[in-house]
Parts: sequence; C-alpha cells; structure tokens
Amino acid sequence: MEKEIIDKYQKAASTWKNAIAHARKIKEGTKLFDFAASIEKIITDEDCGNAFPINLSINEEAAHFTPTFDDTYELKEEDLLKIDIGVHFDGYICDGAISINLNNDHAKQIEANELALANAISVAEYGKEIDGVGKAIEETLKSKGFNPVYNLGGHGLEQWDIHSWPSLPNHSNSSTATLEEGAIAIEPFASTGEGFVNESPQVEIFSLNEGKNVRNMHARKLLTIAKEFKGLPFAERWLREKSDLSDFAITVGLKELMKADVFKSYPGLKEKSKAMVSQVEKSLLILEDKTIVLGE
Ligand code: CO
Repeated sequence: MEKEIIDKYQKAASTWKNAIAHARKIKEGTKLFDFAASIEKIITDEDCGNAFPINLSINEEAAHFTPTFDDTYELKEEDLLKIDIGVHFDGYICDGAISINLNNDHAKQIEANELALANAISVAEYGKEIDGVGKAIEETLKSKGFNPVYNLGGHGLEQWDIHSWPSLPNHSNSSTATLEEGAIAIEPFASTGEGFVNESPQVEIFSLNEGKNVRNMHARKLLTIAKEFKGLPFAERWLREKSDLSDFAITVGLKELMKADVFKSYPGLKEKSKAMVSQVEKSLLILEDKTIVLGE
C-alpha cells in the first residue's frame, strides 16, 4: 500500500479516535439525537467526512439504528448502547465501535466481546486464513457463555466503499481464503441469545444505487443531495437538514426513490430472540510486513 494512502487512513483514524473519546463520555439522560449531531460535527470539523451516520443501537438492537429527525430518546443507565462510528478522509475509511453500559449490568458481556476482538486481531495477518478471525471470535465468545451474532460480520474497506471484499464472518466457516494487503474492519457482536438478527421496520439509513433515475420533483431534489455522499451510506435526517423541502415532500420523495430502487435501505437489525447484543470494532491495515490497528 502506498504511503500516501496509509497516511489518509491514519488521518481518518486519528479523527475516529478523537470522536470515540468524546463518545465514551456519554451520560445518563443524554438525548441521542443531540449526541449523534455533536459526534458527527467533531468529524466534519476535523476536515473528515462521516463514512456513515453514527449508529446508536440499544439493547436487542444490533446495528443500523441512528436517531431519526424527530427522535426524543434519552439514554438510560441500564441501556446497552453500541456506538459505531465511521470516518473517512478522501474516501479512506476508519470504522470502529464501542459498547457502553453505564450501570455495568452487562460488563461481562462487553469484556468477553473485547477479548474476542483482541483475539481476532492477533491472528489478522497478511497471508493467514481469513477463517482464523471468525474462529477466534466464535471460540472466545462461546468460552465466556455468549454467542456471536452469526449473520453479522466484518468487512473490507476500500476507498468510498464501506463493505468491500473480504467479508469476515463472526464464526468459523469452511473458507480457505487468505488475507491480502488492504484495510479491513473486524466487528464481533456478542449476544446473550441465539445470535441471529432480523430486519426491523425502521429505516433511517440509505445509500445510492448508481446510474438509476427518478422523475418525481421532490425525489430528484433528494437525489441531488444524496450524490454528495459518493456512494457512502447517509441518514434521512441529513437529507432533511440539507434540503428546503417540506416534511411531506421529503416523505413523498423518499417513497419514490425506494420504489425505483434508487436508494438502497439499511433497515435496523434486531436480535431475533430479543436478547442483549454488544459490539466492538476496530479497523486494520493489513500490510505484507505488518498489521496496523487504526486509531490506537
Ligand atoms: Co463495520
């Protein structure tokens, strides 16, 4: 990997680290909407971009939840909150997450989850089997009495592409593929239940399917705004902030864009058995001679 590209990943990583340090200070009663806006602003203030809307998923929610424009939820001390932040610099992404539980009811789960990530990182080296990562996650979590979330996993990070090759399951499979040079995100999810997530009806995160078009006037305005994100996921609340359309026009426009398959949606993902889910995630640069853990 060229030094110039490594430097861009490192720039994204240093901003991610700063954003996570702020996020860690979240207090009981914090309004998630305000929290999301403040963290996302830290990122843009440091001349980086949000690679996706901050994910704030609570308890049985595993991923893809971010405050809606009218969200009034305030954090409770017993909540198991996942804070997943993506930062990019010129499209080079650092993606990472922490879990927070203010009253420590779920401390063991978070600890097991962190150990699973550490064990996975320790086997993530150039030329090694990708399966080793999933195996480390699954074995660690099971040995501590938890299940991995089987249908969620890590992923490659290419410029402007948050989910590129390889996919990194949170469990062992029969693949013999090996790690190549590039950026990856390892993200074990631990569950107190079965370890499977389902899609929920709530959708707030979207991305653009390139090359498709739509006629509706409101939809076209939203499409123009959505193009600014260059294929990376964005939030409906971002479209609302950036457009001068009425709530009604936005609702109509969004419906059209979904129907015409111009917008791909990322529905909220919840544990099927309504069990508690935690998540921790780090991004890594796999280089031939070494692995760099971003944001450390
Ligand atoms: Co990720």
